[in-house]
Amino acid sequence: MDENDVGSDLEKVLITEEQIRTRLAEMAAEVDRDYAGKDLLLVGVLKGAVMVMADFSRALRTNAEMDWMAVSSYGSGTKSSGVVRILKDLDKDITDRDVLVVEDIIDSGLTLSWLKANLSSRGPASVQVLTLLRKPDAAKVDVDVRYVGFDIPNEFVVGYGLDFAEKYRALPFVGTLAPHVYSS
Ligand code: IMP
Ligand code: MG
Repeated sequence: MDENDVGSDLEKVLITEEQIRTRLAEMAAEVDRDYAGKDLLLVGVLKGAVMVMADFSRALRTNAEMDWMAVSSYGSGTKSSGVVRILKDLDKDITDRDVLVVEDIIDSGLTLSWLKANLSSRGPASVQVLTLLRKPDAAKVDVDVRYVGFDIPNEFVVGYGLDFAEKYRALPFVGTLAPHVYSS
């Protein structure tokens, strides 16, 4: 699926497929260095982080394990509710593990600060966060994000895992939607 398949729904491409690939490779090299000799566990946050996890994990040289959580903070709208629910928990215990949370986007940061506190309470050796995208509001919450792909403006974006009402996740780039999409 690409921009030709969504007709006039797309307003603009913000980050291209090529830019994402290049940046994820840089981040993977950094993570390989930082976790050398460690037994890394990647924790992907469903569903948005699926594409980031798929491409980032394959860019790593580290033979990391992978686990998934599903949390909900948004419903089908475009504003964070601040209320986080676990829809699917990790399969495995993370006691004494070096955990790297893999995220698609940090907006208000509410989801992430809740998630970090939740994972930290389970006795891991470490918990760090990697996100492809970060919006300006994220700076307001006091949560440390070790690896950031791109800082983007305060716009609602879709593609590369990110949805609007569950659609547009499969676009290979990150872009914004035309106003008529939100009003229909
Ligand atoms: P936060 O709690 O406000 O940081 O938002 C966290 C979650 O909201 C992200 O993991 C996304 O699933 C969703 N989200 C935030 N901003 C956007 C966006 O621009 N497009 C699509 N989903 C978003
Ligand atoms: Mg997410």
